[in-house]
Amino acid sequence: MGTDLQSVLLTKQEIDAKLVELAAKIDAEYAGKDLLIVGVLKGAVMVMADLARALSTPVTMDWMAVSSYGAGTQSSGVVRILKDLDTDIKGKHVLIVEDIIDSGLTLSWLLSNLGSREPASLEVCTLLRKPDAAKVAIDVKWIGFDIPNEFVVGYGLDYAEKYRNLPFVGTLAPHVYGG
Ligand code: XMP
Ligand code: MG
Repeated sequence: MGTDLQSVLLTKQEIDAKLVELAAKIDAEYAGKDLLIVGVLKGAVMVMADLARALSTPVTMDWMAVSSYGAGTQSSGVVRILKDLDTDIKGKHVLIVEDIIDSGLTLSWLLSNLGSREPASLEVCTLLRKPDAAKVAIDVKWIGFDIPNEFVVGYGLDYAEKYRNLPFVGTLAPHVYGG
Protein backbone atom coordinates (compact mmCIF):
# COMPACT_ATOMS: atom_id res chain seq x y z
CA MET A 1 0.00 0.00 0.00
CA GLY A 2 3.00 2.31 -0.16
CA THR A 3 5.06 3.69 2.69
CA ASP A 4 2.91 6.80 3.19
CA LEU A 5 0.03 4.70 4.54
CA GLN A 6 0.14 3.24 8.01
CA SER A 7 -2.83 0.88 8.08
CA VAL A 8 -6.19 0.02 6.59
CA LEU A 9 -8.92 1.30 8.88
CA LEU A 10 -11.98 0.29 6.85
CA THR A 11 -12.03 -2.12 3.96
CA LYS A 12 -14.09 -1.64 0.81
CA GLN A 13 -16.35 -4.48 1.99
CA GLU A 14 -16.98 -2.80 5.35
CA ILE A 15 -17.76 0.51 3.66
CA ASP A 16 -20.09 -1.09 1.10
CA ALA A 17 -22.01 -2.99 3.78
CA LYS A 18 -22.38 0.13 5.92
CA LEU A 19 -23.68 2.21 3.01
CA VAL A 20 -26.31 -0.44 2.21
CA GLU A 21 -27.38 -0.35 5.87
CA LEU A 22 -27.57 3.46 5.90
CA ALA A 23 -29.42 3.52 2.56
CA ALA A 24 -32.17 1.28 3.97
CA LYS A 25 -32.69 3.69 6.88
CA ILE A 26 -32.69 6.71 4.58
CA ASP A 27 -35.18 4.97 2.24
CA ALA A 28 -37.49 4.39 5.20
CA GLU A 29 -37.22 8.00 6.35
CA TYR A 30 -37.97 9.59 2.97
CA ALA A 31 -40.54 7.12 1.59
CA GLY A 32 -42.97 8.99 -0.67
CA LYS A 33 -40.97 12.21 -0.49
CA ASP A 34 -38.76 13.99 -2.99
CA LEU A 35 -35.21 13.95 -1.71
CA LEU A 36 -32.29 16.09 -2.79
CA ILE A 37 -28.93 14.75 -1.76
CA VAL A 38 -26.14 17.31 -1.56
CA GLY A 39 -22.57 16.08 -1.81
CA VAL A 40 -19.78 18.16 -0.40
CA LEU A 41 -16.93 18.21 -2.91
CA LYS A 42 -14.49 16.75 -3.28
CA GLY A 43 -14.29 14.31 -0.40
CA ALA A 44 -17.89 13.06 -0.55
CA VAL A 45 -17.77 11.99 -4.20
CA MET A 46 -17.28 8.29 -3.45
CA VAL A 47 -19.83 8.23 -0.63
CA MET A 48 -22.39 10.03 -2.82
CA ALA A 49 -21.85 7.67 -5.73
CA ASP A 50 -22.14 4.51 -3.66
CA LEU A 51 -24.87 5.69 -1.28
CA ALA A 52 -27.01 7.02 -4.16
CA ARG A 53 -26.83 3.66 -5.92
CA ALA A 54 -27.76 1.83 -2.73
CA LEU A 55 -30.92 3.94 -2.30
CA SER A 56 -34.30 2.87 -3.69
CA THR A 57 -35.78 6.34 -3.13
CA PRO A 58 -35.60 8.43 -6.31
CA VAL A 59 -33.28 11.34 -5.61
CA THR A 60 -31.91 14.39 -7.30
CA MET A 61 -28.27 15.23 -6.71
CA ASP A 62 -26.48 18.52 -6.30
CA TRP A 63 -23.00 19.48 -5.19
CA MET A 64 -21.35 22.12 -3.13
CA ALA A 65 -17.68 22.84 -2.74
CA VAL A 66 -16.41 24.53 0.37
CA SER A 67 -12.92 25.03 1.64
CA SER A 68 -11.74 25.06 5.23
CA TYR A 69 -8.40 23.28 5.18
CA GLY A 70 -6.03 24.37 2.46
CA ALA A 71 -3.39 21.71 1.93
CA GLY A 72 -2.81 20.97 5.62
CA THR A 73 -4.53 18.71 8.12
CA GLN A 74 -6.02 21.25 10.54
CA SER A 75 -9.44 22.90 10.21
CA SER A 76 -9.19 26.68 10.13
CA GLY A 77 -12.87 27.21 10.89
CA VAL A 78 -12.97 29.71 8.05
CA VAL A 79 -15.27 28.35 5.37
CA ARG A 80 -15.44 29.65 1.82
CA ILE A 81 -17.96 28.61 -0.83
CA LEU A 82 -16.00 27.53 -3.89
CA LYS A 83 -19.08 26.23 -5.70
CA ASP A 84 -22.64 26.82 -4.61
CA LEU A 85 -25.67 24.61 -5.29
CA ASP A 86 -27.18 24.82 -8.77
CA THR A 87 -30.70 24.49 -7.38
CA ASP A 88 -32.97 26.39 -5.01
CA ILE A 89 -33.59 24.16 -1.98
CA LYS A 90 -36.52 26.11 -0.55
CA GLY A 91 -39.29 23.66 0.41
CA LYS A 92 -37.17 20.61 -0.45
CA HIS A 93 -36.08 17.69 1.70
CA VAL A 94 -32.31 18.00 1.75
CA LEU A 95 -29.77 15.45 2.90
CA ILE A 96 -26.16 16.60 3.14
CA VAL A 97 -23.75 13.77 2.38
CA GLU A 98 -20.32 14.13 3.94
CA ASP A 99 -17.16 12.08 3.89
CA ILE A 100 -16.01 12.99 7.39
CA ILE A 101 -16.86 15.17 10.36
CA ASP A 102 -13.69 16.14 12.16
CA SER A 103 -13.95 19.35 14.23
CA GLY A 104 -17.48 19.79 12.88
CA LEU A 105 -16.76 23.41 12.00
CA THR A 106 -17.35 22.96 8.28
CA LEU A 107 -20.62 21.13 8.72
CA SER A 108 -21.88 23.49 11.38
CA TRP A 109 -21.32 26.39 9.00
CA LEU A 110 -22.95 24.46 6.14
CA LEU A 111 -26.01 23.62 8.21
CA SER A 112 -26.66 27.23 9.10
CA ASN A 113 -26.00 28.35 5.52
CA LEU A 114 -28.34 25.79 3.94
CA GLY A 115 -30.81 26.07 6.82
CA SER A 116 -31.29 29.77 6.07
CA ARG A 117 -32.51 28.82 2.57
CA GLU A 118 -35.66 27.33 4.13
CA PRO A 119 -35.57 23.67 3.08
CA ALA A 120 -38.53 21.50 4.15
CA SER A 121 -36.04 19.42 6.11
CA LEU A 122 -32.28 19.28 6.47
CA GLU A 123 -30.35 16.24 7.68
CA VAL A 124 -26.82 14.91 7.49
CA CYS A 125 -25.36 11.56 6.55
CA THR A 126 -21.62 11.12 7.03
CA LEU A 127 -19.49 8.09 6.37
CA LEU A 128 -16.98 8.94 9.10
CA ARG A 129 -16.90 10.93 12.31
CA LYS A 130 -14.07 11.61 14.76
CA PRO A 131 -15.85 12.05 18.11
CA ASP A 132 -12.64 13.02 19.92
CA ALA A 133 -12.00 15.91 17.51
CA ALA A 134 -15.39 17.62 17.88
CA LYS A 135 -15.25 21.35 18.58
CA VAL A 136 -18.96 21.96 18.06
CA ALA A 137 -21.90 19.70 18.78
CA ILE A 138 -23.83 18.77 15.65
CA ASP A 139 -26.96 16.74 15.26
CA VAL A 140 -26.04 14.12 12.66
CA LYS A 141 -28.80 11.68 11.83
CA TRP A 142 -26.82 9.00 9.99
CA ILE A 143 -23.22 8.10 10.81
CA GLY A 144 -21.30 5.29 9.16
CA PHE A 145 -18.33 4.86 11.48
CA ASP A 146 -16.88 6.64 14.49
CA ILE A 147 -13.11 6.56 14.06
CA PRO A 148 -10.09 7.51 16.17
CA ASN A 149 -8.67 11.01 15.97
CA GLU A 150 -6.10 10.25 13.29
CA PHE A 151 -5.72 11.68 9.82
CA VAL A 152 -7.30 9.31 7.31
CA VAL A 153 -7.19 9.09 3.54
CA GLY A 154 -8.85 7.11 0.77
CA TYR A 155 -12.40 6.62 -0.49
CA GLY A 156 -12.59 10.31 -1.45
CA LEU A 157 -10.41 11.64 1.36
CA ASP A 158 -7.14 13.23 0.44
CA TYR A 159 -3.88 14.43 1.77
CA ALA A 160 -2.70 17.26 -0.50
CA GLU A 161 -5.12 15.92 -3.17
CA LYS A 162 -3.59 12.46 -3.16
CA TYR A 163 -5.12 9.08 -2.18
CA ARG A 164 -8.75 9.97 -3.02
CA ASN A 165 -9.03 6.99 -5.36
CA LEU A 166 -8.10 4.34 -2.81
CA PRO A 167 -11.09 1.98 -2.45
CA PHE A 168 -10.55 1.74 1.33
CA VAL A 169 -9.97 4.17 4.22
CA GLY A 170 -6.49 4.10 5.68
CA THR A 171 -4.44 6.05 8.16
CA LEU A 172 -1.62 8.18 6.95
CA ALA A 173 1.81 7.66 8.46
CA PRO A 174 2.65 10.63 10.72
CA HIS A 175 5.95 11.27 8.92
CA VAL A 176 3.98 12.28 5.82
CA TYR A 177 2.37 15.28 7.49
CA GLY A 178 5.03 15.94 10.08
CA GLY A 179 3.05 14.50 13.01
P1 XMP B 1 -14.04 19.75 10.00
O1 XMP B 1 -12.85 19.77 10.93
O2 XMP B 1 -14.47 21.15 9.65
O3 XMP B 1 -13.46 19.10 8.69
O4 XMP B 1 -15.15 18.90 10.52
C1 XMP B 1 -14.27 18.85 7.62
C2 XMP B 1 -13.51 18.57 6.35
O5 XMP B 1 -12.10 18.44 6.54
C3 XMP B 1 -11.57 17.38 5.82
N1 XMP B 1 -10.98 16.39 6.75
C4 XMP B 1 -10.20 15.37 6.42
N2 XMP B 1 -9.74 14.97 5.22
N3 XMP B 1 -8.62 13.17 6.27
C5 XMP B 1 -8.95 13.88 5.16
O6 XMP B 1 -8.53 13.49 4.09
C6 XMP B 1 -9.04 13.50 7.51
O7 XMP B 1 -8.72 12.83 8.49
C7 XMP B 1 -9.88 14.67 7.58
N4 XMP B 1 -10.47 15.31 8.61
C8 XMP B 1 -11.14 16.34 8.06
C9 XMP B 1 -12.75 16.79 5.05
O8 XMP B 1 -12.78 17.33 3.75
C10 XMP B 1 -13.97 17.25 5.79
O9 XMP B 1 -15.10 17.40 4.98
MG1 MG C 1 -11.74 17.61 2.17
